[in-house]
Amino acid sequence: MTQRKLLITGGAGFIGSNFVHTILESYEDIQVIVLDKLTYAGNLRNLAKWKDEKRFHFIKADIANKEELSLALNGIDFNEIVHFAAESHVDRSITGPEEFVKTNVLGTFYMLEIGRNLHEKGKLNVFLHVSTDEVFGSLGADGAFTESTSYAPNSPYSASKAGSDHLVRSYFHTYGMPVITTNCSNNYGPFHFPEKLIPLMILNCLQGKQLPVYGKGENIRDWLYVKDHCLAIDLAIHKGKFGETYNIGTRNEKNNLEIVELICNLMDLRHPQGAPHKKLITFVTDRPGHDFRYAIDPSKIEKELGWTPKYSFEQAIEETVDWYMNNKEWWSEILSGSYQSYYEQQYKGIG
Ligand code: NAD
Ligand code: TYD
Repeated sequence: MTQRKLLITGGAGFIGSNFVHTILESYEDIQVIVLDKLTYAGNLRNLAKWKDEKRFHFIKADIANKEELSLALNGIDFNEIVHFAAESHVDRSITGPEEFVKTNVLGTFYMLEIGRNLHEKGKLNVFLHVSTDEVFGSLGADGAFTESTSYAPNSPYSASKAGSDHLVRSYFHTYGMPVITTNCSNNYGPFHFPEKLIPLMILNCLQGKQLPVYGKGENIRDWLYVKDHCLAIDLAIHKGKFGETYNIGTRNEKNNLEIVELICNLMDLRHPQGAPHKKLITFVTDRPGHDFRYAIDPSKIEKELGWTPKYSFEQAIEETVDWYMNNKEWWSEILSGSYQSYYEQQYKGIG
């Protein structure tokens, strides 16, 4: 068998960097090449553990810039692609959708063209595209998304991801490229950028800042531990069928208020000087077009690939809170950088 040489786009972001850790820790004989633009969400600190490792290489490039991308990959040898790179925050897609179209649609198209070039030379083993359950739109009180649920994206973020999923699908049907798409639910865990609900609430508790809950906090998300997600992607690379899509989730629905209250309870034990943290909960104006509920039916990946999660929610959320408690240097650097002005703009009027 030829040596595995894995190109990981977006590998300096939240899920991508967790995936790099999973892969380098699981396989000794593998080369990992991370390609990342290092936007506000990309952080080389996430990968610091591997900086002197011979099996690890980093390339800074923008997937939405065709010339830059092909120049950056010129002479680089790889035979598998896992594509994470994206603009990922719904709130930012509402105020600035253009970057989402550029990176998520055009950038995925350029990555597919890189893949097609390799495929035509017989050198591409797999192209795995990481997508979201948000492409399916919003659920009411019942039911869950399956792989055959119709696409109905509601935000510029989910619409741009839906566009990228369709392009990936077309490269299987048109060019016979070995593509697989995974659609997962909301992730949480280490290295999660603080703009997202769970890390935002943990860090605001630690700083005695208000906890901004959109609307009444009744919206429901289906929380997936990032380490379980990474193991599922690894399984899909090995056992997944080309041209197929797999939903990834752990049947773990919670409404936002439940999540925030749970974090407050965990923080009361770990940070008693701020207790009770629930006093910081502040209901703020709802997100425009806020999807009510997401829920994944993971039966297909369970039945066809034999996937089961390794972590319980109770264990993983505690691990996550502890990770932020133990990695103050990581988040302090982010909070004191350009994120500060985003935060002030997004949460105007709350302390
Ligand atoms: P993230 O925002 O933490 O990281 C994105 C990474 O992509 C960053 O390192 C960033 O620098 C890089 N990037 C952005 N634009 C780029 C460009 N033009 N060229 C090269 N690199 C670029 O995102 P994440 O949460 O790790 O999400 C990773 C993938 O998983 C995305 O495709 C996202 O749509 C998908 N996803 C995420 C979640 C979630 O809960 N976080 C859920 C479902 C699907
Ligand atoms: P988020 O982490 O942004 O993920 P997504 O929008 O992709 O689901 O938000 C998760 C949920 O938390 C979503 O229903 C919006 C809500 N939310 C808040 O209530 N307050 C906040 O400050 C943020 C960032 C999100």
